[in-house]
Amino acid sequence: MNQAEKIMAEDSDWIEVGKVEDIPPLGARVVRTAEYDIAVFRTAEDKIFALRDKCPHKGGPLSQGIVHGDRVACPLHDWKIHLDSGDAVAPDEGCAARFPVKVEGGVIQLSLTPDEGCPNQ
Ligand code: FES
Repeated sequence: MNQAEKIMAEDSDWIEVGKVEDIPPLGARVVRTAEYDIAVFRTAEDKIFALRDKCPHKGGPLSQGIVHGDRVACPLHDWKIHLDSGDAVAPDEGCAARFPVKVEGGVIQLSLTPDEGCPNQ
């Protein structure tokens, strides 16, 4: 059973994706599902965010970008994306779908249902 099949077999919409310290500060790890690659980011303040791993510009892998504050810079053309909303920083326009995350006992829980309102789903 591959990872995507394992995730589809989960009863719940929420899955565990590991501990906060499993993600390097200012880095990300990718959770692959049948529908999406989801980038789970860790900021310098140990805040955790999750966005679709697809830049709203031309689809660059946001998980390979650099986190600055609560933003990530796309590795392809350096658009900045707000981690808390998925919106591109003006003057660029567009959004990456945001996925709810929570941390319980140092373990990251990720919802596989993206928030409404972003067409990049
Ligand atoms: S693909 Fe991300 S900035 Fe162009």
